Amino acid sequence: MSVSSSFVHRFEPATRRDAPPLLLLHGTGGDENDLLPLGAAVAPGAALLSVRGKVLEHGMPRFFRRVAEGVFDEADVVRRAHELADFVEAARVEYGLAAPIALGYSNGANIAAAMLLLRPQTLRGAVLLRAMVPLANPPSPDLAGRPVLILSGRQDAIVTAANGEKLAGLLATAGASVERQVIPASHALSQADVALAQRWLQGVRAGADVPAAE
Ligand code: MLT
Repeated sequence: MSVSSSFVHRFEPATRRDAPPLLLLHGTGGDENDLLPLGAAVAPGAALLSVRGKVLEHGMPRFFRRVAEGVFDEADVVRRAHELADFVEAARVEYGLAAPIALGYSNGANIAAAMLLLRPQTLRGAVLLRAMVPLANPPSPDLAGRPVLILSGRQDAIVTAANGEKLAGLLATAGASVERQVIPASHALSQADVALAQRWLQGVRAGADVPAAE
């Protein structure tokens, strides 16, 4: 598969060797340009692979179909998670990358969570911003040692506290090393997200909770 033809994306090569690559996954209506500044802010010098979702909802790119707000077409979640995982694996070969840490926001966080559950070898870990449970009956993958940061907004009108907590529980049960923080924010990103993600990624880079490279 030619990487460039399978998903619209942007790739920024690393400028430092010790920074794990980031896979940037935007929210509904975003595109591959949206999270590049966030990626550069939270992981200076890391390679950035930023992808545009292929599903269009009234012209707005997403990573999978939904029936209504918070109600997902789960067959499409599964199909699209595998399609994106295939892309990431091909991109790793083409760009010479280690397994990336996903940095996803909203719909992008949800497809990252689905990839962790369905294709656990694809990601080294994940930062999930305003994520929710993507599948009602997910499989039980082996996520042993994979670091995951979940940042939920206390005033989030889209993702309930219980849903974010359930996702954290699912991933922890699968063996992931999950840190979840509920911050004073809405569904929109805040400065606290940037600071917390940056600090957490510094910890990952320092070697804490990082599974051996695959
Ligand atoms: C969104 O607006 O994108 C939702 O909150 C999350 C989703 O549909 O995946």
